[in-house]
Amino acid sequence: MGETQFFEVTPVAGLIGGRVSFPSLAQVVSDSGSMTALKQALFEYGVLFLPKATGDVRLFGDLARGFGQILNHGSYPNEPDDPDVQILENRAGETYKIEQWHSDMTFAGKPPSVTMVRAKVLPPVGGDTLWASAAAAYDALSTPMQAMLCELTALHDFRHGFRHSLAEPGGQERLAPMVEANPCVSHPVVLVHPTTNRRSLFVNPLFTTRIDGLSAGESRHLLEFLFRHIVRDEFTVRLTWEVDTVAIWDNRLVQHKPIGDFGPTHRVLQRATIA
Ligand SMILES: [Fe+2]
Repeated sequence: MGETQFFEVTPVAGLIGGRVSFPSLAQVVSDSGSMTALKQALFEYGVLFLPKATGDVRLFGDLARGFGQILNHGSYPNEPDDPDVQILENRAGETYKIEQWHSDMTFAGKPPSVTMVRAKVLPPVGGDTLWASAAAAYDALSTPMQAMLCELTALHDFRHGFRHSLAEPGGQERLAPMVEANPCVSHPVVLVHPTTNRRSLFVNPLFTTRIDGLSAGESRHLLEFLFRHIVRDEFTVRLTWEVDTVAIWDNRLVQHKPIGDFGPTHRVLQRATIA
């Protein structure tokens, strides 16, 4: 850890997840030594939880900008006081759709490295989020299996992840620009983290449709095995949100799954993604 560090991290589960406590978030954000140490902690734990991360939207934006260049995508409205922060809102009466395990936007040629979310309005019950360590899942495989997977790439498809939205009335027209902008893309099945060289499995049931070069049956069976393997209980951690809890995760190391058990109630999250 760095020389100055205005926070502490304690493990939340055996293989993934750290809880970050601090006297002042502003102090952490404005101190370069602390931000360096926070990034190191993220690479170590895969996902960090920061309870009571109060402060205005600019402070949340500053925390995100401390992790790297912000990736702006036009699908969500932005906060007026900080356009780098998006607003994710479920209104009362709307059912929540994405319930499958994934890492964010793997349909893109360059998916976001880090995602950061702060809860602002929460349902009275439910709405937890799960994360799974795709790095621990890779480590737990046999050496011959690791060697085989390191040779493979897999296809990721925007249309697969958004198939339910595309099937809605008007969905094809509404999502046509996104479909156009995101043709199918291949990524390595095993990612090597650019900073730590740690390896992790990079296929997910929301967007990954096919392992390149295998027969359809081989691909289907291998993907089913990997999807189940990555999310084995021992690789996971669960967060019950409170207002102003921030979660920061590295999409190259972990996958996540929102639990859609809160019914059609109001929820508002602030989010920033890093390129
Ligand atoms: Fe996500």
